[in-house]
Amino acid sequence: MTELAIEARGVERVFVSRKGFFLNEITRTEALRGVDLNVEAGEIFGLLGPNGAGKTTLTKILSTLLLPSKGEAKVLGLDVTKEAAKLRPRMGLVLGGERGLYNRVSARENLRYFADLYGVPVAEREHRIQKVLDRVGLIESADRRVEEYSRGMKQKLHLARGILHEPEILFLDEPTIGLDPKSARETRKLIRGLVTDGVTIFLTTHYMFEAEELCHRLAVLTKGRVVGRDTVAGLRALVGGDRTLEVEGYGFEDAEVEALKRLPGVSKIVSEEFGPRLRLTLRLRTGELRVDAVRALLNSHPELTVRERQTSLEDVYLDLVGDGS
Ligand SMILES: Nc1ncnc2c1ncn2[C@@H]1O[C@H](COP(=O)(O)OP(=O)(O)OP(=O)(O)O)[C@@H](O)[C@H]1O
Ligand SMILES: [Mg+2]
Repeated sequence: MTELAIEARGVERVFVSRKGFFLNEITRTEALRGVDLNVEAGEIFGLLGPNGAGKTTLTKILSTLLLPSKGEAKVLGLDVTKEAAKLRPRMGLVLGGERGLYNRVSARENLRYFADLYGVPVAEREHRIQKVLDRVGLIESADRRVEEYSRGMKQKLHLARGILHEPEILFLDEPTIGLDPKSARETRKLIRGLVTDGVTIFLTTHYMFEAEELCHRLAVLTKGRVVGRDTVAGLRALVGGDRTLEVEGYGFEDAEVEALKRLPGVSKIVSEEFGPRLRLTLRLRTGELRVDAVRALLNSHPELTVRERQTSLEDVYLDLVGDGS
């Protein structure tokens, strides 16, 4: 059996906040409503979901920054609430943003501070810092004050900080947000390099191509619940198939749509209006249906266009998230 790096069971988190003059208006937000997840050691696991779905909340709970209201989670076999102190030195967390860096000093000095905090041996410190600066592509600006850094440079420094103590598992909340395409690509390369070294990666992202390119397995979170959890291929099957057909024309009869639905291999049809035209998106199970059969059925529409493509992760995501966005 493969070793599990993360095991979450029924994780819930409620935020209670008070508003109003007497702080007497209480709002409860159920950010996580019972999340179960397994992440295998050595894999890149991606968490997708709309804004407010609970991705950052879950990332924070798994990395011991926040307590769950209910349920339990183990990371590297350690309970995130009861054994947090043992777990922390073995994991890294990159949340990004403006917080958590010292702006008045250089990147190198920031890393010295964190190296001491993480207990990196002094004899190894400078070498280790040089190595991570190189790895994230910050060598040339390493001695400039962080307040002069661009957003992307700060993101790289966060990443350097996250890997400085050579963690066994790394949590990355939107690791490539704000990075230019070249830097984003280098960051993905760095992430793959870490996995080659045996690090387990748990990341959140809004970029479908990034998830598809990087992640061995994915979970889609909506309103605090996991609505799909598998490989990209498995998720395609979950939403009804590998192939997608887009059929466009100036309106279709209900009977035609019904006939399309009955064709072998068609698992789902969604219709959308595009100005005067109507687009039917058909999800197909691999190989069972030929495009010719669709054309033949709709041969009374001379203006018909039919386009076939592989079902993308974005299609899968939109199907799973539905009205949750
Ligand atoms: N400290 C907090 N106090 C109150 N509510 C919070 C707090 N942190 C998060 N929430 C709420 O919990 C829900 C989940 O937020 P979370 O930040 O986990 O979403 P997310 O999936 O990371 O979204 P995004 O894609 O925008 O980063 C949201 O409704 C949010 O408003
Ligand atoms: Mg977030």
